[in-house]
This record gives sequence, structure tokens and C-alpha cells, in this order.
Amino acid sequence: MTITLSQLKKMHQQQQKIVCLTAYDAGYAHWVSQAGVDVILVGDSLGMVVQGQQTTLPVTVEEMIYHTRMVQRGNENAWCIADMPFMSDAGLEVALQTAAQLMKQGLANMVKLEGGQRVLPIVEALSSLGVPVCGHLGLLPQSVEKHGYKIQGKDSQTAKRLLDDAQALQQAGADMLVLECVPQALAKQITECLDIPVIGIGSGADTSGQVLVLNDILGVTIGKLPKFAKNYLAEQGTVQKAIAAYVAEVRQKQFPADEYVLA
Ligand code: KIV
Ligand code: NA
Repeated sequence: MTITLSQLKKMHQQQQKIVCLTAYDAGYAHWVSQAGVDVILVGDSLGMVVQGQQTTLPVTVEEMIYHTRMVQRGNENAWCIADMPFMSDAGLEVALQTAAQLMKQGLANMVKLEGGQRVLPIVEALSSLGVPVCGHLGLLPQSVEKHGYKIQGKDSQTAKRLLDDAQALQQAGADMLVLECVPQALAKQITECLDIPVIGIGSGADTSGQVLVLNDILGVTIGKLPKFAKNYLAEQGTVQKAIAAYVAEVRQKQFPADEYVLA
């Protein structure tokens, strides 16, 4: 039985950490769900870690459908989120079309899209249609050409905007929020202000849950590992044990330890 949205919300209310990890195909999705990961994210990070591209921008909706379908064949019971790739949410009609494809053809349980104010009408429409939506604030990889890869919300003005955006997303009907590379104190504040679960990456230990890129925890990322990621395979020896160690450390609030928190 697939974990439901209400079970995830209950975990959040009971302050049980939610464990999320990316996966991009059936084999890994099988072992990720077997290890007890609650949420599988079919991230458009696949453009970088699977396709070997420089950014996530070239990823298409067709590719997201292809990977999401594979993941759902291997996934036993994790909640599955599919990313809406760059420009597939540019305008209400195209965004609704993308979400329909990811849900109907990809068999995703939820869609995720990057941004604040801009996406509010989309979140509202999807939510009213019964589509679960995950927001994504902070570092936005789809905006990398404009803003670069850097921690977001260090100055008070941006911090205030992120908090406002987070509240607006929840108000518009978002059921979950990913916070990427924001300072720990701000991530804590946003998590405390919201009722919906907040899943952090590079945002400290105080969010409702954590997400990492699978390739990073297995040490098979091309190039340098991000500071906030931990290679679990190195100390565990097998893929299955590495994923299980990540799950255990997030549940027990041992990950992220201070060395994985951005300053
Ligand atoms: O694409 C992805 O893997 C993501 C996570 C890093 C949050 O969006
Ligand atoms: Na993504």
C-alpha cells in the first residue's frame, strides 16, 4: 500500500522525520522503497546525474514521464513526486497539461514545481483539481542561469520573501514544500510557520524531513559532492545498506550533522 499524503502529514504533526530520496529507474526505486524511504522524488536532477548535462534545463516532460513510469514499476510503497521540468510550468495551461501527463502517464502521486509568487495560480488550480502539489523554494536549479548555485535567504529581505512565499504556497493549496540551500535558522522558522511538511536539502536539521540525490549518497555523482550531501556507500559497502543508513540517520535526527550544514 502506497504511503498516503495524510500519513505524511501525520508524521509531520507527530514530529517524525520524513525521509525522501531521489530515484530515476525501477531497480533503484525498488531498493529505495524497500529501505523504508517515505517519499521518492523523481527529480529533474536526472538531467545532471543520469544524462550528464550541465544543468537541469534541457530535461523534457517526455523524459520525466519515462523516468517516473520506471520508478513506479519498481517502487513498492513510497509516495512518488515528479518534478515539472524547466518551462513546462510557464503559464497555467501548459502547467496543467504537464501535471496531467506526469500523473496520468508517469503515474506520479504528486508534482513539484519551483518558485514562489509566479506559481501561485498554478498551485491553486492544481490543488482544486485534486492534484497534490509540492512547492520548491530557496536555491532553484531551473533558475541557475539567472541566479547561480548559491545559498538563498542570507539577507533579511530575501529571508522575508522566502517566508512570505512559503506561506503563500501553503495558502494556495501546496501540500508539501522543498527548501533547498537556505540557512538553518530560516528553514527552522519557515517549518514552524507552516502546517504542511517541509523537506530540506542543504537547509539544516530542523525541517520536517530531508531529501538528497541518490547518486550523491552512493558516491557515483560525476564531479564533486555538494557540501550538504553525505556518501553513505563508502562506509556501508552495499547500496541497500547505504540507503538504510541514510534512512536511519534522518529518522534519528543524526543527519544532517553540523559538517553538512551550509554556513
Ligand atoms: O531534482 C531534484 O533532485 C530536486 C531535489 C534536489 C530537491 O529537486
Ligand atoms: Na528538481
